[in-house]
Amino acid sequence: MEQAEKRAAVISHETLFKPKIIAFLCNWCSYAGADLAGTSRVQYSPAVHSVRISCSSRVDPTFVIKALLMGADGVLIAGCHPGECHYKSGNLLTRRRFMMLKTLLETIGIEPERLRLEWISASEANKFARVIDDFVEQIKKLGPNLLGGGMNDSV
Ligand code: FES
Repeated sequence: MEQAEKRAAVISHETLFKPKIIAFLCNWCSYAGADLAGTSRVQYSPAVHSVRISCSSRVDPTFVIKALLMGADGVLIAGCHPGECHYKSGNLLTRRRFMMLKTLLETIGIEPERLRLEWISASEANKFARVIDDFVEQIKKLGPNLLGGGMNDSV
């Protein structure tokens, strides 16, 4: 069965498709933004599993590939705004890596739209929620990641 047919079958069987998103969040800004969203009771999709990292540049490309191959439907990397990285230029490295990763994903047959990069500061709780909800909708349109091996719900 072709991949598109497989995906259509899965989508028709799973009208209640609930994407699994892995979000790598920089401790100094985006994680704090997510924390603020929580303490401020800003609502956003529960589809996200957050991974706290010291800087967005800490996200090795293999983390992204592995997450997608293990069944994540989408991966978000979120860090400090340009010029505000606590390690000076970590987020600039992240931006270059992100562009390279998009190309790599396409090469190995994973839709590059499954990877997203955002700059979210500690005070941007509403932006965090908006990004998450928007990304979840985007992934719902793409459908399940069929190259993933299936992520355990407890992850
Ligand atoms: S410390 Fe936040 S992106 Fe580098």
